[in-house]
Amino acid sequence: MRRILIAGNWKMNLDPAEGTSLVEDLLDAAGGWPDVDVVVCPPFVTLPAVAEAVAGSPIELGAQNMHHEDAGAYTAEVSAGMLLTVGCKWVILGHSERRQLFGETDTGVNRKVKKALHAGLLPIVCVGETLDEREASRTVEVVKKQLRDGLAGVTVEEMNEVTIAYEPVWAIGTGKVATIEQAGEVHEFIRSWLNETFGHHIAERVRILYGGSVKPDNAAALLAHPDIDGALVGGASLKADLFDGIIRAAE
Ligand code: 13P
Repeated sequence: MRRILIAGNWKMNLDPAEGTSLVEDLLDAAGGWPDVDVVVCPPFVTLPAVAEAVAGSPIELGAQNMHHEDAGAYTAEVSAGMLLTVGCKWVILGHSERRQLFGETDTGVNRKVKKALHAGLLPIVCVGETLDEREASRTVEVVKKQLRDGLAGVTVEEMNEVTIAYEPVWAIGTGKVATIEQAGEVHEFIRSWLNETFGHHIAERVRILYGGSVKPDNAAALLAHPDIDGALVGGASLKADLFDGIIRAAE
């Protein structure tokens, strides 16, 4: 059985004081949480303060991006090793905003995935189609290419450490959540691709999160789908009551 994972992607929100206050509110509520994995992914500058606030608690820490090299002349970039030193266990890679606004490619995502795995970080690899691609019936083709190229050269053993997030771009920050049928169809496709590519054990083991306008009132129905193993939450992860509501929906 795959354990549910609820991850909050704070994007470019919450400074150290605001981030600390949010996780303190979450920890006040954590006593009533079901048995799930909970991860928050603050901006880089907020990571150390949040790491201190969540130390020894059920909340784990992730980053939103990283560079694939260990060190060097890469102005404004942050390495996997640096993320580990501030207490990160997870890292989101290939988010659609990185792809669309910052020119990240599948090849670049692939370099980062391999580096994260070598460094001992758990990558959450994001895939998903745009509205145009969906309307042109290209969803499966697009997601398949992102998976194939983004995970190229990753071994079966390494795949044990990988989480995939399906985030339809048209559902991100729009309030337009995918229907259970739309999300379920893509999650089932991803599971079958994992089976073909890495075998049955990996297909059964790898968690596939859904992301895109997840809220407390739609989370339970999404999480009830057998191939939806958790949520990657943007906007609703910035409010303790909403994120707490999503975690509780995993009951
Ligand atoms: P929203 O939950 O705000 O739609 O964002 C989803 C997302 O991009 C998480 O990575």
